[in-house]
Amino acid sequence: MSRAIKKLQSDGTLNQPFMWGTATAAYQVEGAWKEGGRSPSHWDTFTHNKGMENGDVACDFYHKYPEDIQLMKQLGFTHFRYSISWSRVMNGELRNEQGIQFYRDLTQELLRNNIEPVVTLYHWDLPDQYDWRDENVVNAFAEFADLMFSELTDVKHWITLNEPWVFCALGYHYGLHAPGTEGPETGMLQCGHNALKAHARAYGVFKERYDPHRPGAKVGIALSSHWFEPLEPSNAADQELSEKKRDLMLGWFAEPVYGSGDYPPNVKSHYGDQLPVFSEAEKAMIKGSSDFFGLNHYTSVYVDSTRGGGSDETRIKHGAPIGALAGSEWLYVVPWGFNRILTYIKTRWDPKAIVVTENGMSDADTSDVTSLVNDYSRIAFFEGYLTEMAKAILHNDVPLVGYLAWSLLDNFEWEDGYAERFGLIYVDFNDPGRRRVVKQSAEYLGGLIAQAELCR
Ligand code: NOJ
Repeated sequence: MSRAIKKLQSDGTLNQPFMWGTATAAYQVEGAWKEGGRSPSHWDTFTHNKGMENGDVACDFYHKYPEDIQLMKQLGFTHFRYSISWSRVMNGELRNEQGIQFYRDLTQELLRNNIEPVVTLYHWDLPDQYDWRDENVVNAFAEFADLMFSELTDVKHWITLNEPWVFCALGYHYGLHAPGTEGPETGMLQCGHNALKAHARAYGVFKERYDPHRPGAKVGIALSSHWFEPLEPSNAADQELSEKKRDLMLGWFAEPVYGSGDYPPNVKSHYGDQLPVFSEAEKAMIKGSSDFFGLNHYTSVYVDSTRGGGSDETRIKHGAPIGALAGSEWLYVVPWGFNRILTYIKTRWDPKAIVVTENGMSDADTSDVTSLVNDYSRIAFFEGYLTEMAKAILHNDVPLVGYLAWSLLDNFEWEDGYAERFGLIYVDFNDPGRRRVVKQSAEYLGGLIAQAELCR
């Protein structure tokens, strides 16, 4: 038995069942954008202003969640990750009772079906009146978190923020995500700075007000990262640059929370004076502000120091691609990178527990529903990634306690609309009733969960 497993057994973590779940996010699945007193988020405004595909109806999860919960139950999933649409539960500073009731009902329906909720407070749908570059968002987020902590008393797993790297970089620097700001790096750095403070404040609120009465409840954050592999592993410059790129994507948020309380040296030297500075009190508040390491991981890239400039990443080595390309242009299937990033996190930050809060693969949309439902390449994806995950646990002592596949349903894939399908369940977006069809990969995961439970 590996040391990691022994440790988890002795501290009681393994008394909790392994979390086998799927993940979703409010704006990507719920629809009902104007129902129940919901006010607009910046994703509504961004998509409407640009005339893009949008989440107005999405999978209509808002109305169809009881059906979806039955599907999860039949498949054997033990956990379900969903997010709260902030502008559904609050209108400015006022609570919106109907919106809160929706999440109470959803949570209770899950529990009635023996599925544990994993709740993300923020998965990118910021109420229109806020801006992550503005410090006011920190208090506003802490109040929103407080409201949800106080309302959803049975939730044991909370995730404050989903992928701050993505919503800050794509929202405030590259302009691809809401609010669509294309501008200097200072905007994204300010966003990241406030996001870290908002996360830590929410964690503090939970620990102070709720933790004593909620045995076993945990609060974390979901960070995203590719694995950056030196193109030539023995080349010192490739190694150094790979480490820097890990810091710019993952370390930017992970080092403050799981390490020193402050940004890593690579991030400081890269951005220089543009990077905001934490006070000592803020560092103390951020350091250690997470009960588990939530990781969203999909893909890996090679880092080639000889290329220089912005093009130091490649997916080709000695003429061969790093892996098969999925339906998204950034998603190459690289199972071995999963073991590497998990082991890297364990070695560098030694978190108490790691939860894979997202992992999955996309197919490009096509009218050939049969091929979408008989998704053998997604089965191969899970087989490969889960084998590497098992190696990380058994051989490399990674304290992994859960795996949440992205995603339960085909859904709204942000700037790519409905062109990329990540679901274990097919959704017919041409059907006003949003018909669902369970894919082969969902059956595969269901079978695997049943076997894994037998082995416990
Ligand atoms: C990460 C995000 O959290 C999620 O919203 C998105 O759909 C998936 N990656 C796939 O790109």
